[in-house]
Amino acid sequence: MLPTLNLVAITAYLAASLSGVSAQTFQRLGTCPTLGCVLPPDQQDFLPGQQFDIRFEVHAPKNGSEAFNGGVPDETFTATIAKDGKNPKSIASYFKLSEPTIEKWTFSWYEDLFAQDAKTPSVVNVASKAYRRVALYDPGTYVVTLKYYSGKTTTATWVVRPLATRKKAKNVIFFIGDGMTTNMITAARLLAHKTVNGKYQSLLQLDKFPVLGHQMTHSIDSFITDSANSASALYSGHKSTVNAMGVYVDSSPDAFDDPKVETIVELVTRIWGSAWGAVTTAFIADATPIALTAHTRSRSQYGPLIDQALNGVRNYSWTNPGGPDVYFGGGAEQFIPGSGSYQGKDFYAEFAKKGYKVSLNKTSLLATSNKEKTLGIFCRSNLPVWIERNIFPANLAKLTNDPSGAQAAATDLPGLKDMTLKAIDILHNRGGRQGFFLMSEAASIDKQMHTLDYDRALGDLLELDDTVQATIQKLKQLGILDDTLIVVSADHGHGFDVFGNADTKYLGEAQDDRKKRNAIGVYQNSGISQYTVEQPGVSYGTGANFPVNWDPRYVIAAGLGANPDHREYYGIDKSGPRTPATAGGGSSEDYYVNPKDNPAGFVVNGTLPTNQAQGVHSLTDVPVFAMGPCQETFGGTYSNIDIFYKMAECLGLGQPTNKTGGHF
Ligand SMILES: *[C@@H]1O[C@H](CO)[C@@H](O)[C@H](O)[C@H]1NC(C)=O
Ligand SMILES: *[C@@H]1O[C@H](CO)[C@@H](O)[C@H](O)[C@H]1NC(C)=O
Ligand SMILES: *[C@@H]1O[C@H](CO)[C@@H](O)[C@H](O)[C@H]1NC(C)=O
Ligand SMILES: *[C@@H]1O[C@H](CO)[C@@H](O)[C@H](O)[C@H]1NC(C)=O
Ligand SMILES: *[C@@H]1O[C@H](CO)[C@@H](O)[C@H](O)[C@H]1NC(C)=O
Repeated sequence: MLPTLNLVAITAYLAASLSGVSAQTFQRLGTCPTLGCVLPPDQQDFLPGQQFDIRFEVHAPKNGSEAFNGGVPDETFTATIAKDGKNPKSIASYFKLSEPTIEKWTFSWYEDLFAQDAKTPSVVNVASKAYRRVALYDPGTYVVTLKYYSGKTTTATWVVRPLATRKKAKNVIFFIGDGMTTNMITAARLLAHKTVNGKYQSLLQLDKFPVLGHQMTHSIDSFITDSANSASALYSGHKSTVNAMGVYVDSSPDAFDDPKVETIVELVTRIWGSAWGAVTTAFIADATPIALTAHTRSRSQYGPLIDQALNGVRNYSWTNPGGPDVYFGGGAEQFIPGSGSYQGKDFYAEFAKKGYKVSLNKTSLLATSNKEKTLGIFCRSNLPVWIERNIFPANLAKLTNDPSGAQAAATDLPGLKDMTLKAIDILHNRGGRQGFFLMSEAASIDKQMHTLDYDRALGDLLELDDTVQATIQKLKQLGILDDTLIVVSADHGHGFDVFGNADTKYLGEAQDDRKKRNAIGVYQNSGISQYTVEQPGVSYGTGANFPVNWDPRYVIAAGLGANPDHREYYGIDKSGPRTPATAGGGSSEDYYVNPKDNPAGFVVNGTLPTNQAQGVHSLTDVPVFAMGPCQETFGGTYSNIDIFYKMAECLGLGQPTNKTGGHF
């Protein structure tokens, strides 16, 4: 889900050292507690040879608690870089670049909630320089020093990790269960797999992975992340700020001029000429798939980001992976000519011009050649979830989401498994000896957890598990299982868990909320999972990896730690996905229980600010499952950026191309 984009989210950090106020949440620039900013900031890691931009900013707050120098920024600042304690050199001479011209702008931010209520922003004038498209090749520690206001300094320590020139895996398939936690995996297992006297009779595919690790998901400047900057951390080895991808966020107004970092698909195409693809059940311009190629501080620039995916970064010289070999998902609004597409263009035609086969439904996807670059856009917005596609297909007909732009429902929809297996066939052919990188995302685990629709989230988690199982079979058939690193992880979690069961019959018949709550069975009254008990005469035909009964009398009682006012009944809503809260009293930013959602349930008062309509992400670490070459490197507990370094190392992407550093 897109976090509320407000001034607060894109502004910055007030350093405790600069004033008595230790405002943690309202930030002038999250990575820059002083008045001199180095981007990439302190404590960043790099792959040898990975391309990036550098930006320096000197801030002169005009008013507010940090007011300085009459609001006039120092334009005579200097910056140096020194490796392993050796002689510092100026940035321009070190990277053999000419000195860039000074850029200037003004921005404003709120120092706290009182300033926000009073609408008294603090105004900051900025002087800045950007050095574009550089790389560091020699492993080691680098110290970058910015000197400004005659005597002030800001330093950043950067670590270039060891070289990794040998390619150990030909292919990498990276599955992302968006928002998926260990608690959700546990619940999905309970729904789909039978126990006898406490012992599971079958397991999830994820349960059979040889290596399990644990990643920490924090953003660079907030401990709760969103899917944009967490995807960036996974794909580039560089953390970023909420809403940003493939860049370190600067304070300038332009959403596309922030200093960039090279992503894994840019590296794997530049270094090995591999094929690459993205598959998602979200709209394809959504953060997790688009972050493979996106360089912006604003994830909601959907149209321009689809253009970046096809044509590369505009306005700056940058590595261009030349468009995906496969690109499958929803999100027709960025392709149909009109306001949602870049410059209003027909992006189906833009892809076709570059040699893509375009497929708009499952039948044509399955029939398309395995040789050509393929774009598959199967609906507007996100793909309807697994439960609608497989259990309640009649609900699909209620939508107006035809990908051609017709006012009709998209009903011939592929699932994550169809898309992923087709992607592997195409990538295997197109990558040839150079192999491929595929990202496959189960997006609606997250989207349905946001709306507290636990059944629909878990249905999509089981679809992911089923897809992973089928992928292993497919790789075996193609004879490439041993050459392929498979990683399954998440970008962040939600505070979800199951705490018992609910007797939907008792809950529905009880007349008041306190009595309804007595329908919840805790401890010994939780019983055993009823989702695995067959109902006479009912068969969904969805196979061994899914529940045989989605609508038992005794259902799981579950919840999130972060939610708006809503009503819980726990039984599945057969009419379609939930909307737990709606705006009340005329203000679109003030949410209450949706009177139409779970009318037979009881009210659960919210824990979130009243302007939040949905649940939000939580702090939890998330699991990492690995299998194949380099699997052993994925055990243990580490940062989300380490996933990138582990994959990049396994693909031999840390190259000593230019021993002394240089530009391109
Ligand atoms: C800073 O100045 C601007 C006008 O330039 C004003 O709108 C704002 O309220 C001032 N902020 C503070 C904190 O005084
Ligand atoms: C590139 O520059 C042009 C001309 O200045 C501008 O109109 C366009 O918005 C820029 N595109 C991006 C993606 O920044
Ligand atoms: C699927 O796409 C093909 C090719 O564009 C088209 O001919 C066919 O009518 C479509 N089928 C459905 C059910 O929309
Ligand atoms: C609890 O939720 C109800 C329904 O949305 C709302 O009317 C009430 O104000 C909430 N109570 C609190 C303390 O927020
Ligand atoms: C290495 O750096 C030099 C000078 O900085 C540059 O001219 C050259 O093109 C670089 N070589 C490669 C392969 O990038």
